[in-house]
Amino acid sequence: MTRAGIGQPSVRIEGRQKVRGAAMYASDHTPVKLLYAVIVGSPVAAGRIERLDTAAATALPGVVRILTRQDMPQFGKLSFAAAVTRLPMQTDDIQYEGEPVAIVLGETLEAAEGGARLVQPVIRATPPLTPKGEAGERPSGPLIIGKDETMGDIAAGIARAAAHVEQTYTQAARHHNPIEPSATVAIWEDGHLTLYDAAQHAYYVVQTLAAAFAIPPDRVRVHAEHTGGGFGCKGRCWPHQILAAAAARITGRPVKLTLTRAQHYAMIGYQPLTRQTVRLAADAGGRLLAIEHAVLNTTAVTGDYVEPATESAKGLYASAAIATRQRMERVNLTIPSPMRAPAEGVGQWALESAMDELSIALGVDPVDLRLANHAEVDPMDGRPWSSKKLREAYAEGARRFGWRERKSRPRQDGFWRLGYGMATCMMGTFRWPSEARVRMRADGSVIIETGTHDIGTGTPTVLMQVVADTLKVDPDRISVRWGDTSLPMAGPVAGSSATIGTGGAVLLAARDLKQRLDRLFPGVEEPAAAFRASGVTELQGEGRFELPNNAGFSADGAGSGFAMRTWGALFVEVGVDPDLGLVRLRRAVGCYSAGRIVNPKTARSQMIGGIVWGWGKATMEESVQEPVHARWMAKNLSNVVIPVNADIPGAIDVSFVDEFDEHAGPIGARGIGELGATGVDAAVANAIHDAIGVRIRDLPITPGKILGALSTGRRTARVDPQ
Ligand code: MOS
Repeated sequence: MTRAGIGQPSVRIEGRQKVRGAAMYASDHTPVKLLYAVIVGSPVAAGRIERLDTAAATALPGVVRILTRQDMPQFGKLSFAAAVTRLPMQTDDIQYEGEPVAIVLGETLEAAEGGARLVQPVIRATPPLTPKGEAGERPSGPLIIGKDETMGDIAAGIARAAAHVEQTYTQAARHHNPIEPSATVAIWEDGHLTLYDAAQHAYYVVQTLAAAFAIPPDRVRVHAEHTGGGFGCKGRCWPHQILAAAAARITGRPVKLTLTRAQHYAMIGYQPLTRQTVRLAADAGGRLLAIEHAVLNTTAVTGDYVEPATESAKGLYASAAIATRQRMERVNLTIPSPMRAPAEGVGQWALESAMDELSIALGVDPVDLRLANHAEVDPMDGRPWSSKKLREAYAEGARRFGWRERKSRPRQDGFWRLGYGMATCMMGTFRWPSEARVRMRADGSVIIETGTHDIGTGTPTVLMQVVADTLKVDPDRISVRWGDTSLPMAGPVAGSSATIGTGGAVLLAARDLKQRLDRLFPGVEEPAAAFRASGVTELQGEGRFELPNNAGFSADGAGSGFAMRTWGALFVEVGVDPDLGLVRLRRAVGCYSAGRIVNPKTARSQMIGGIVWGWGKATMEESVQEPVHARWMAKNLSNVVIPVNADIPGAIDVSFVDEFDEHAGPIGARGIGELGATGVDAAVANAIHDAIGVRIRDLPITPGKILGALSTGRRTARVDPQ
């Protein structure tokens, strides 16, 4: 094995570039003759534009032009799910606060910002829709994941049950808030469009803009090398990319458009407000007879978004009967989007809280209850798993945490009441097709080419390791070219999929190159000398990671004969101050079954990040839609509570079971990035219940909710026995 092969803790290859400020992000690009664009948003969430007064703004020195709906072309319809469904500035109707109504173009950013402040939209406001939590609407189109499904006889299961839990769990809307706000630089030249964009899948941007401007996709090229965080919000296309391109085409000059934090809240997707009802019925031994999981989430006035949290009920436990239902509720906000971790990341909150409630009702240890319902095959359709080492993860996690001994551990530390909780972690195994090329030059150096993005997870480093491992080449001799849609098409850096898909394509390309080398220079140890002797200047290998039936996406192994998900067990210790309602994370142990781990250093960092992210979701994060005006209450980070270093203990223990998943992809890996963010909220709520005997079913678990629940408990003496 070389010193950077698969399984080695290599440091990020782009790290030096980043800490020196040399890594280029979208808005770092400043082409000549650039115009700066600033969007003017609607001040109200619902209504109709009556007039836009642009005279004062136009008169401001440095303002070049102001574009309104009348200047916009009619954009072509977008027919795929990866873009905002409501095209910008096409009608006078307003559906959310901050919806673009004009674009001010200036010679400087200051001029454009000054002009934007002078534009006066006159809008006839109508009463906006805000969440009411009512029955909800069925999604109209076909769903890839999150379909309503029923397996077995729910009523029969409930009739036979010895124990029964039915509860509703809510979680607040949340925003991705990447450090780098979305930004686009658009340049038109001879009918060809070039973009520098902050993206998680630049090929979606190509498709979106080609469709919007009705041009062939080969006339659109997107550069997106470094992406300053995304968490899902840059995995889709939003109004700003289309508007920047339109402004550049109309003016004939390059246009840079960077969203403010408030605009990010307005026009980029978010994780919707959800209300989940879970019903569990079990026999006296704790075996599940029925699981019902119903989910309601907010969506836009036009455009369906389903938060497929019912994937949890479909994938996690064996049960005689399982039924799921997804509904939506329309509000005057932009359309939601996936956010680390969507689907099961949302569903585990409800299901794993309900399992804890069931374990208390039955008097069974939470781990034993989960083991009793361990799904040996896919619970819905009986497919075998591609690989699943969840039993090992429970055992190893419990051992490292001291779970079985927890009852003998201290229950108090000063004024802190201590509690212990656990939850099962689970995510789908999202896979996209991917392509890559690996080139060896005559000097023996190797270049990897694939259009992925560096989003901070270590993807280019992992690609380098895969090639170093396959070709036995020193890492210093390997370079990676990425972040350009003219390169072979990589899958998204989303859905925890990059190592499986893009990594898989790179592995296949490296193997292809190795075969060519072996054929051309049989038995040669040192290719550079052989290249010189033969006069060959370069050899190329190509790789394509494909899905069964040439599918464009797979969430759970569809078509492969195997069901695929990722797994883990999370154990936490919290301290709760019952007088002030404060809650602190003291310790967390996560053990995961996610296939082969290519880089233990970056993988560990991903899981710690996921647990921190989950702690924020569990106890802090909340985007509130103001109930009268339907605006987000806070639209900047100064009023948004997220975890900081002081909130996170050093005692976060992350491990992986030894595993190779031969069905998920050629590397043997499944996804990890989002798995670590699942189950944290439920484990924390379960631990809080263990500490103080009250159950909080509404995220985030803030001090006010803890105090409220404690005082209700004291009044009605319904505090659960310890
Ligand atoms: Mo993630 S929500 O798939 O970027």
